[in-house]
Amino acid sequence: MRLLVTGGLGFIGSNFILHVNEKHPDFRITNIDAELPGSNKKNLSSLQDSNHYKYVKGNITNKKLVDKLVSGSDVVINFAAESHVDRSIADPRPFVDSNIVGVYTVLEAVRKYKKKFIQISTDEVFGSLKKGSASEKYLLNPSSPYAASKASAELLVQSYIITYGCNAITTRCTNNYGPRQSPEKLIPKTIILAQKNKQIPIYGTGKNIRDWIYVLDHCDAILKILFHGKSGASYNISAANEIDNLTIVRKILKIMGKPLDLIHFTKDRPGHDFRYSLNSRKIRGELCWKPKYNFEKGLERTINWYIENKKWWADTPSSILSAYNWKTR
Ligand SMILES: NC(=O)c1ccc[n+]([C@@H]2O[C@H](COP(=O)([O-])OP(=O)(O)OC[C@H]3O[C@@H](n4cnc5c(N)ncnc54)[C@H](O)[C@@H]3O)[C@@H](O)[C@H]2O)c1
Repeated sequence: MRLLVTGGLGFIGSNFILHVNEKHPDFRITNIDAELPGSNKKNLSSLQDSNHYKYVKGNITNKKLVDKLVSGSDVVINFAAESHVDRSIADPRPFVDSNIVGVYTVLEAVRKYKKKFIQISTDEVFGSLKKGSASEKYLLNPSSPYAASKASAELLVQSYIITYGCNAITTRCTNNYGPRQSPEKLIPKTIILAQKNKQIPIYGTGKNIRDWIYVLDHCDAILKILFHGKSGASYNISAANEIDNLTIVRKILKIMGKPLDLIHFTKDRPGHDFRYSLNSRKIRGELCWKPKYNFEKGLERTINWYIENKKWWADTPSSILSAYNWKTR
């Protein structure tokens, strides 16, 4: 199988490519990435001599390049996106470009060359839920410019399925954690700052709840969907593991043997959704997927990876690790 992966230098895309390379060494993978925030060339340096992996530096809004790459593939999996909510609050424009115009550009090529397409989306499209969990049929109700751009992409995919009969699937996953995630996200930031014995910023009261999944469980779910997912469908992916931010940071400090007084509460982020929650009964029932990692096991693996791979994050600028300031960025 010839896979075109977009955004493969980022956190989930790179874990997915390494996972596929291990499970299906016969697959040919092309990765297009624009080297934007979240990307790290070190993520896939282990594949640089592989003749089953090809890297192309490029933007998914580049129609000519996307046409060429899509025409030479069997399936396109779109991970490419601006993914940091804080950045989307400071400046939504790159989110519109990558997450909406980029998806439109890939969809046009997929339609032209009649290829299979998988759009990687997020639980954030459903907005904050006071109670219950969103099923695939839940109303899209995004809060941040990031979530709105991902919801827009989902609607574009849906319209290409209905109008042009495109062979496309949308997946929505909860918050991922694991190796190779950008140091500006909660879990890596906490591990790195704790390792440096520096203050760890937490928004507001730290009581905001996210539903966490180990990145390899997400990658496994995408593979199941690639092989057995129903064309035109959408699938929610969740490990049913809801935890508030403060509890996560405390757990990390406990595992690392660091004092709780490293925690420093900061001003909350504008429009901060309180709780996300997904119902993943459909993928569990129809595709027999279930997560393999419990949170404690996954968190320990993640902490060990960051401790053992200090070179990966050593040159992270302190501005990336500090509390986000929307006004000065
Ligand atoms: N991280 C999560 O918890 C999570 C949860 C659910 C869904 N998702 C979705 O999964 C996907 C991957 O997320 P991630 O956390 O790995 O993000 P990331 O920020 O780590 O990586 C995104 C990658 O996409 C690339 N990219 C962005 N715009 C591009 C463009 N226009 N052209 C080419 N490449 C471009 C970046 O350079 C980067 O390498 C995103 O679509 C995100 O919305 C993420």
